[in-house]
Amino acid sequence: MRAVVWHGRRDVQVDTVPDPSIIEATDAIVRVTSSGLCGSDLHLYEVLAPFMTAGDILGHEPMGIVEAVGDAVTHIAVGDRVVVPFNISCGHCFMCNQGLQSQCETTQVRDQGCGAALFGYTKLYGQVPGGQAELLRVPHADYGPIKVPHGPSDDRFLFLSDVLPTAWQAVQYAAVPKGGSVAVLGLGPIGAMACRIAQHLGVSNVIGIDLVPERLGRAEAHGVDVIDWNGFAKTSELIEAVRSRTNGRGPDAVIDAVGMEAHGSPLAKATHTLTALLPSTVAAKLMRTTGTDRLAALHMALDLVRRGGTVSVVGVYGAMSDPMPMMTMFDKQIQLRMGQANVRRWVDDLMPLLVDDDPLGVDTFATHHVPLAEASSAYAGFQNKADGAIKVVFNP
Ligand SMILES: NC(=O)c1ccc[n+]([C@@H]2O[C@H](COP(=O)([O-])OP(=O)(O)OC[C@H]3O[C@@H](n4cnc5c(N)ncnc54)[C@H](O)[C@@H]3O)[C@@H](O)[C@H]2O)c1
Ligand SMILES: [Zn+2]
Ligand SMILES: [Zn+2]
Repeated sequence: MRAVVWHGRRDVQVDTVPDPSIIEATDAIVRVTSSGLCGSDLHLYEVLAPFMTAGDILGHEPMGIVEAVGDAVTHIAVGDRVVVPFNISCGHCFMCNQGLQSQCETTQVRDQGCGAALFGYTKLYGQVPGGQAELLRVPHADYGPIKVPHGPSDDRFLFLSDVLPTAWQAVQYAAVPKGGSVAVLGLGPIGAMACRIAQHLGVSNVIGIDLVPERLGRAEAHGVDVIDWNGFAKTSELIEAVRSRTNGRGPDAVIDAVGMEAHGSPLAKATHTLTALLPSTVAAKLMRTTGTDRLAALHMALDLVRRGGTVSVVGVYGAMSDPMPMMTMFDKQIQLRMGQANVRRWVDDLMPLLVDDDPLGVDTFATHHVPLAEASSAYAGFQNKADGAIKVVFNP
C-alpha cells in the first residue's frame, strides 16, 4: 500500500510499504477514505523529530471502510463505515471505565512513562503505524472504531477522530459559568472548533486570538470577537484589550489551543533549533530532562484569565523543565485542566450534532482536500500556512 512515511526533519514522503494484516483477534483493517493532517503532526514534522524513527507511518485522524475484522470484533463488520479515534483504548480498564480513554491502562506506553498509545505518534506513544495510508490496522477495534451511517460526505464524520472531541473536551474543561466569557488562544482547527462549540453551548462572549489573517477572518465570520495579535506592540496591550471586553477582570476561562510551538517565545525557539543539530538520542534525552517548550501562549493564558478562573490547555506540550509562573498561578487561584482528548467519551454528545443539520459547520471545515500522493508538499504548505491552509484532509 501507499503511506505517508516520516524520513527526517521536515521530510515526509509517500512510500510503498507492506499491507497491514490482522495480528490480534481484537484487530480490524480499515481501507482509509479520508485522513486529516493535524497541528499535532506538525510537532512530529520538526520539533519532536528526536522521538521519531525513519520509516514511521504518520496520521491519527482516519476514517474509512472496514475491510477485515478479527474474531473478537463484533460491533463492526466488513463493509461498515467507521471513524477511528486517535487514541487507542480498550474500553474496559479502570481508566476507560471513567471516561479517561487517553490514559487507558491496557495500552499505556509504560516504558516511556506515557498514557494511552496513539496512532502515528512517536516512540513516546507506542510507535503505532498511522492512518495517512491506504490501509490501517486498528488495534482494540472491539472498542475503538465509531460506526457512522453511509450517505453523507466523509467530512461530516471525519472530525470525530480528533478535532471535535478535542475541542469539545477543551470547552468542557474550561467550565465557563452561565453568562460567562471565554478567550481562545489559537484559531487553528482546534481553537476554531472550540469557539464554535462554546457558542453552540450558549457562551455569548467568545473571544478568539491569533495572528493569521484568514484564521481570524474565518472565526469572525462565525461570530467570534477576534483579536489580531499583530495589532499590538506589546503583549500587555493585548491583555488590556481582552480585559476591556470582560468587565476589566479578564475572561472566566481561557483555552490554550496553541501548544509547544507558540509564536513569541524566542529563547525556547532557539533551543528547538539547537536541539535539531544534535544526534536524536542526545536530543531526546535533553528534551525529556531539561528541555523547554515555547510557552508564550500558555503564559499569556495564565495572565489573561480572571482571578479564580480556569485555564484549559488543549495545545500539546512535551518538555520537562518548563518554567511556570507559580506565584501568579497560586495568587490568582487559577484552575488548570489539560490532556489528550478522551475521544470515545464525547462521541455520544457529538453524534446528534452530525446527523441532520450541521450546526458546527463540519461539512465546510476542511480548507484543502489533497490526494495522498501530494502529502510531502501538503505538509510543507501546512507548516507555512501557505495558500490559506487551515485544515487539510488527505483522500487516499
Ligand atoms: N489535546 C489533544 O488531544 C489534542 C488533539 C489535537 C491537537 N492538539 C494540539 O492542539 C494545538 C492546536 O492544534 P491545531 O491543529 O489547531 O494547530 P495549528 O498549528 O493549526 O494552530 C495553532 C494556531 O495558533 C496560532 N498561534 C501561534 N502562536 C500563538 C500565540 N502566541 N497566541 C495566539 N495564537 C497563536 C497559530 O497562528 C495557529 O493558527 C496543537 O498543539 C496540537 O498538537 C491537541
Ligand atoms: Zn489530530
Ligand atoms: Zn482501557
